[in-house]
Amino acid sequence: MSVYAVIMAGGKGERLWPASTPARPKPFLPLAEGKTLIQATYDRVVPLTGRARMYVIAERRLAEPIRVLLGLPPEQVLTEPQGRNTAPAIGLAALVLALQDPEAIMMVLPADHLIGDEEEFRNTLSLGVEAARAGYLVTLGIEPTYPATGYGYIQRGEPLPEFPQRAFRVRRFTEKPDGATAEGFLSEGGYYWNAGIFLWRAARILEEIDRFLPRLSAALQRLRPLWGSAAWEGTLREVWDQVEEISIDYGVMERAERVAVIPASFDWHDLGDWQGVWEVLPKDERGLAAQGEHLAEDTGRTLVWGLPGKPVATLGVSGLAIVDTPEALLVADLARTQEVRALARRARKTPPDWKELYQLDPSGMLEEVKKFPAQCREALALGKAAELPLDKLSGFSRVLCVGMGGSGITGDLLARLLPLEVIPCRGYRVPEFIGEETLLLAVSYSGNTEETLSAFRDGLSKTPRALAISSGGKLRELAEERGVPWIGIPGGHQPRAALGYLLFTLLSAFRRLGTFNADLEPVLEVLEALSRKLAPAAAGNRAQELARALHGRVPLICGVHGNTAPVAFRWKTQINENAKQPAFWAELPELCHNEIVGYELTERVLPTSQVVFLRTDSDHPRVAARIEILREVLARRGLAYLEVEAEGEDEFSQLFSLLYLGDWVSVYLALLNRVDPTPVRPIQELKDRLARYKGG
Ligand code: F6R
Repeated sequence: MSVYAVIMAGGKGERLWPASTPARPKPFLPLAEGKTLIQATYDRVVPLTGRARMYVIAERRLAEPIRVLLGLPPEQVLTEPQGRNTAPAIGLAALVLALQDPEAIMMVLPADHLIGDEEEFRNTLSLGVEAARAGYLVTLGIEPTYPATGYGYIQRGEPLPEFPQRAFRVRRFTEKPDGATAEGFLSEGGYYWNAGIFLWRAARILEEIDRFLPRLSAALQRLRPLWGSAAWEGTLREVWDQVEEISIDYGVMERAERVAVIPASFDWHDLGDWQGVWEVLPKDERGLAAQGEHLAEDTGRTLVWGLPGKPVATLGVSGLAIVDTPEALLVADLARTQEVRALARRARKTPPDWKELYQLDPSGMLEEVKKFPAQCREALALGKAAELPLDKLSGFSRVLCVGMGGSGITGDLLARLLPLEVIPCRGYRVPEFIGEETLLLAVSYSGNTEETLSAFRDGLSKTPRALAISSGGKLRELAEERGVPWIGIPGGHQPRAALGYLLFTLLSAFRRLGTFNADLEPVLEVLEALSRKLAPAAAGNRAQELARALHGRVPLICGVHGNTAPVAFRWKTQINENAKQPAFWAELPELCHNEIVGYELTERVLPTSQVVFLRTDSDHPRVAARIEILREVLARRGLAYLEVEAEGEDEFSQLFSLLYLGDWVSVYLALLNRVDPTPVRPIQELKDRLARYKGG
């Protein structure tokens, strides 16, 4: 009969808001001497079971962070579609254990408790295992230290004959009593707090569930033959909202036979609220417990929970809980922190009213983004029809692409797409080494960008082979003056919203020049499908979800060198220009040689950052391995990170699916930021001022 541990990671910890949030609930808080509570729970129990018999059960959205944090294989992190209280979670875990080992002994441990004397704790669990082997449903009872009204109580009865004076039959469970009743329990003796720690044979608890919780039992029966098959997840989703939402105490323990309690003498805290946290933290002689930097004058009996690098200063106060996080700042009466849950619920982000937010887009950037695939198709036709002196242009082995901002990205993307060297150039001059073998390409949507015009002039003095594309402007005049072929594209758009015209017209032209031969039809089909799936009316919109994840945060977008790097850059610039907020980008593997060190203090300097990895199937296998490792490094630092998977089959479709997703995300983020995505006043102002600036 092997012993298994199941850590229950379902505790929301709403009373520890704003540190505990749905994305990072209580088990993930570093409350165990710097360790997260779930890690401390794991470390405490693994000596009894070994790693292979440690299981965790959590809501699906928390499975990956838990797996990464504890280094467990996916099959040991069991998931529920949504939390339904403890009985269903325990039933599910018991089923999985019993299927693998019909004799399994199962220990159930909440992921969010603090335990002082670990040796004593393990000794008590070992005794519990003996009692479970003997067929009992075992619970541990904590010796009460005060008449708490926040816990359930267990009254002990006769000693178990097999374990005299060490384990007892349970006479009665009492849910959270009032103050007078609790005081009565303490003076009478023989009552313990119910800590939610249980031990039993997995098969026995399943029998009891069958007796008392028929809907849960029926759900488990349906799931039983599906373990390990592809149908498990779907069926679980189907059956899970029909099972009883009930605690194991109410559902089974209070009604079952042969229930035992083992009195525990180890130091136990459930850190239920900020006062509970204050109790366990070291304090100065006046009762100030502080975590993070603080400046205190004349401060008594106070809990300070600060952000790294942002000191909390207190003067002449006492009896407060002060909790500063990127989400919110809480200042509460320390004695009333059990009431914080109501505030946490009020603060929980309600879904945005998108219909109202669409009003913030009077110039129609959403519509522009929606039409991107159509623009790309139109551009292919434009490139095909453009008058080009193919003989004069052909014969180059390299392209130098001069252009800035929303036009300049064309150079980066051409470098990714064309099977020859493309050098993007963002400055006033071109490199010295440019010669006849180079095609000079000037890209400026307006045709009036001074750096582009200057570099183009400079380039024309070095190579006769040149091509320009714009909607008009001085670039057109210059090209005509110098006899350089020029391709005109429709005006009236923001340059960044004209990427389809700029890039696809050129791809079509390069096809005619014999330097590009990839089939773009699959790309266009993927873009068209995304245009429907990510548009405002679409349900379950991934771009809107991502925008919500980024809202209020500083995005750090990560792409891969030679593949998604220009796409990561486009996300960054689109977020800057549309959503009017800071964003940064980096590329793998280079970021593993510098930026990764900077992540050590991200939490201090940019506590509100959100790392986003762009993922495709065509990355080098070593890059994929680096992402796996990085994910773990970031999780350990407690950084928010997410991954965005590309759509489509071939590498170009995947690349463009990510690019297009980023465009949508940036516009939705603008709306969440309550700004009009279209105007880019600072860019225009700078251009206007420079135009008046004499010299240079
Ligand atoms: C504005 C935008 C800018 C411009 C940049 C260069 O939507 O995207 O980044 O692209 O100022 O101007 P053009 O593209 O006209 O050469």
